[in-house]
Amino acid sequence: MNQPFVAVLMGSDSDLPVMQATLDILRRFEIPFEVKITSAHRTPAATHDYVSDADQRGCAVFVAAAGLAAHLAGVTAGLTIKPVIGIPLDAGPLKGMDALLSTVMMPGGIPVATVAVGKAGATNAGHLAAQILALSDTDLADRIHQARAANATSVQAKDADLQATLKA
Ligand code: RP5
Repeated sequence: MNQPFVAVLMGSDSDLPVMQATLDILRRFEIPFEVKITSAHRTPAATHDYVSDADQRGCAVFVAAAGLAAHLAGVTAGLTIKPVIGIPLDAGPLKGMDALLSTVMMPGGIPVATVAVGKAGATNAGHLAAQILALSDTDLADRIHQARAANATSVQAKDADLQATLKA
């Protein structure tokens, strides 16, 4: 059995700067991943071939990001029963509302777990993929708990600094 990995798909190289946030989270949690630029519209056959092949090779979670008429996550979801996380990207004059609606409004039976538009969504896609994999990986679950605790500590430290500033 191959080691489970996350496949991160994006519609264009122009999506890569925002999608670094997903890759950063996967690296932080030591999760194996692949990255693929492939488009539901511009390279439909290659998208089909990649998703089917990654599925067979042990991909456990797909992350798919696209802007404008964003169909990459939906097409991916139609080709696999693995969880698909969709990230709508702000790539045009509608500021991501177009991508949000085309990613989230999937027909019944073909779900896409849609996260927030843009960088927050790219970050949360990494976290959500990690949490899915942690269902069967206790070491990974420990790393996620530690990251959550560090996040809380960081917020509390910022509040402590603020309170100290207000008293000064
Ligand atoms: C989408 O069109 C891509 O995901 C990207 O967000 C958007 C613009 O692509 P480029 O014209 O920059 O290649 O398919």
